[in-house]
Amino acid sequence: MEKSAKIYIAGHKGMVGSAIHRKLQERGYFNYVLKSHGELDLTNQQAVEDFFMQERPEYVFLAAARVGGIAANMAEPVEFLLENLQIQCNVIKSAYQQQVKKLMFLGSSCIYPKDAPQPLKEEYLMTGLLEPTNEGYAVAKIAGLKLCEYYRRQYGADFISVMPCNLYGYYDNFDPEKSHIVPALIRKFHEAKRKGEKSVTVWGTGEAYRELLFAEEMADACVYLMERYSGEFVNIGCGRDYTVMEIAQAVRKVVGYEGEIRTDPGKPEGMQRKVVDTGRLTRLGWTPRYTLEEGLAMTYQWYKENCL
Ligand SMILES: NC(=O)c1ccc[n+]([C@@H]2O[C@H](COP(=O)([O-])OP(=O)(O)OC[C@H]3O[C@@H](n4cnc5c(N)ncnc54)[C@H](OP(=O)(O)O)[C@@H]3O)[C@@H](O)[C@H]2O)c1
Repeated sequence: MEKSAKIYIAGHKGMVGSAIHRKLQERGYFNYVLKSHGELDLTNQQAVEDFFMQERPEYVFLAAARVGGIAANMAEPVEFLLENLQIQCNVIKSAYQQQVKKLMFLGSSCIYPKDAPQPLKEEYLMTGLLEPTNEGYAVAKIAGLKLCEYYRRQYGADFISVMPCNLYGYYDNFDPEKSHIVPALIRKFHEAKRKGEKSVTVWGTGEAYRELLFAEEMADACVYLMERYSGEFVNIGCGRDYTVMEIAQAVRKVVGYEGEIRTDPGKPEGMQRKVVDTGRLTRLGWTPRYTLEEGLAMTYQWYKENCL
């Protein structure tokens, strides 16, 4: 990518899209075309086609998607499947039609079968049934990565995909109804500390495992791959996981809350374990820099400065 190349980041106001924007700026790229959801609804095929025809971006990061936690995914599988399919099909097809030089599609590690061996290797894709709590979202992500793969194979387009583990960071969604594990815990512990509550309850048994990567690291990996990699999809992760209880304890420490942590086994906790195999990414030369505690501390600082 030339530093003056025209780059479109779909979803640049989201957690990952904004991190990719910051990383690109840090690396000296300066020519962007950016549209918020309000300015361009990516589910609108005509609007997306018109946008690509007018702007003719050279490089595209597709980081726009309908994203949510377990509760939102279970309540609205239609929207998670439909909107994500629409966004992906519109952007990927228009990118091909307007001869975009390279596109990166952001998927998710929930594409893997729920009973696949751990760590999840790229070749385990479509070898079994998906986790039912976010099946609609996962089906859309599989379709997106396959569409990129087919464009590569059939038309020689340089479209690549990455499948990250759970992410957290700045501009995350801290809404209690819609948030993922880290923002949900940050908010819960912060509120409990503020109100002087004696305990905080985490969903599920606390024994499920989760891998977490700071979104700034995810963005670093995306730009790294965009600059030098073309080929099959790649997992992005930190290569290790923690129990939900360990994550809750780490957040409690960062927030400075001294109360007790309780579990609620009656609440859903999604997949029991989900850690991606990062062998392909490591062989390509990328490894993360921050520890979980460092990433959580930076995220909590951001939350206090921007959400309160
Ligand atoms: N967060 C994670 O843990 C995680 C894990 C694995 C993979 N990913 C993937 O990483 C990508 C980015 O996720 P994120 O966490 O950064 O999500 P996010 O913070 O919710 O950002 C998504 C962005 O997409 C925009 N968007 C949604 N629907 C749109 C539409 N119809 N038209 C235009 N823009 C639209 C949103 O705008 P509004 O907010 O205005 O709707 C938002 O700016 C997604 O593909 C996601 O699947 C995320």
